[in-house]
Amino acid sequence: MLSFAPLQTPAQAQTCARLMAESEPWLTLRRDYDSLLKAVQNPAREVYLALDAEEIAGLVILNMQGAFTGYIQSLCVAPTWRGKQVGAALMDFAEKRVFGQTPNVFLCVSSFNTGAQAFYLRLGYERVGTLTNYLVQGYDEILMRKSLAPLVGYQPGEA
Ligand SMILES: CC(C)(COP(=O)(O)OP(=O)(O)OC[C@H]1O[C@@H](n2cnc3c(N)ncnc32)[C@H](O)[C@@H]1OP(=O)(O)O)[C@@H](O)C(=O)NCCC(=O)NCCS
Repeated sequence: MLSFAPLQTPAQAQTCARLMAESEPWLTLRRDYDSLLKAVQNPAREVYLALDAEEIAGLVILNMQGAFTGYIQSLCVAPTWRGKQVGAALMDFAEKRVFGQTPNVFLCVSSFNTGAQAFYLRLGYERVGTLTNYLVQGYDEILMRKSLAPLVGYQPGEA
């Protein structure tokens, strides 16, 4: 039985950074362990873990500030946990957090990450546009969105 909780300890941050640093898409995007450790420890982000007791099954990093409030910056399921609905459960958790405040969830997925694109389409995300050569030369980032309602007049829980 998985539980969901905010990232709390330096050891958890290190495990999250290692999970991402050893996995696609971060390998192709040339994001190393140190930069990913900074990302998970960024106080301007919210990081939530899917936990099986002490074991980290996956993580999601959310940005609840700025123009695209409700932006999922990163989602990663540990290799041994993939294909077991952990990613879907983390997305459900993140969507509840975002939709409790604002009607849009945004995310980017790399053009080469066709598996994750299928995953997000399956969860109801729509392609908004293409950010050509955005992170690394030769690959695009595809901006996706799930929306409950226009921003103006949105009342959480009533969409
Ligand atoms: C993409 C990722 C988050 C999916 O998490 P997951 O736990 O393996 O996926 P789930 O088991 O929750 O799958 C949910 C649904 O998406 C589908 N799906 C998941 N991965 C898929 C893939 N690679 N190709 C096609 N469909 C996929 C599943 O079949 C499932 O459909 P169902 O509900 O009809 O059974 C995970 O594979 C991962 O961490 N990948 C590496 C990092 C990454 O790419 N992150 C996204 C960066 S934008």
